[in-house]
Amino acid sequence: MRKVMDCMSDFAPYRKIVMMKGAQITWTEICCNFIGYSMHIAPAPVLMVEPIDDMVTLISKTRIDTMIDACPELLSRVSASKSRDGKNTINLKTFPGGVLRLTGANSAAGLRAMPAKILILDEVDGYPPEVGGEGNPVDLAIARTSSFEGKKKILIGSTPINLSVDKVLNIAKTITTLKIKLPVSGETLTRTMLLTAKHKTIEPLFNKKFWENF
Ligand SMILES: Nc1ncnc2c1ncn2[C@@H]1O[C@H](COP(=O)(O)OP(=O)(O)OP(=O)(O)O)[C@@H](O)[C@H]1O
Ligand SMILES: [Mg+2]
Repeated sequence: MRKVMDCMSDFAPYRKIVMMKGAQITWTEICCNFIGYSMHIAPAPVLMVEPIDDMVTLISKTRIDTMIDACPELLSRVSASKSRDGKNTINLKTFPGGVLRLTGANSAAGLRAMPAKILILDEVDGYPPEVGGEGNPVDLAIARTSSFEGKKKILIGSTPINLSVDKVLNIAKTITTLKIKLPVSGETLTRTMLLTAKHKTIEPLFNKKFWENF
């Protein structure tokens, strides 16, 4: 888990971190740690999405508020949860240099409320396939990060429910590690990247058979 958290650092080059995970392995805790980091060390607008609004209330009160109340560095930036002075409400917590907005994936308005440099999609397998006639909640939320190209961080995590239809599995499948051996130096370059539809068109080039028949 330490390695996963290292990937979330502002200094790590990774933009999309996908976690297909077992139950109760501290993923939500890791997301909260990253929120604390984004309030204190690298302030930024953060959007956190839970499957439904009820879960937002639970996470906000029992995980994020307790973290803020227990950390002097966070408490000095975000008001104590009991104060509820508008800087710290269940759905919105403001701090110098950023804001944390929490929303349910069942709320189209919540998903397009603000631009976000940090997007945390928790338990995506519990999201509805479509929200408010506006489309897939994962796509709607990711669109919120479009003005932070090259700087954004998108965290997607879920416990698979059914391996044949898992959203998180489908997202994980679009990430691949390419290894290319340079012919002259013999050096092997490794790059982990997100495969878009455009990348898929060059997929055959990485198949040995393609070159045998060339
Ligand atoms: N650093 C820690 N040390 C020990 N226990 C922890 C730590 N962080 C979280 N826990 C506990 O581990 C349990 C699982 O944490 P968490 O809910 O973050 O995991 P999760 O993978 O998101 O679980 P779920 O599958 O229910 O979504 C919780 O009971 C939490 O209190
Ligand atoms: Mg969780």
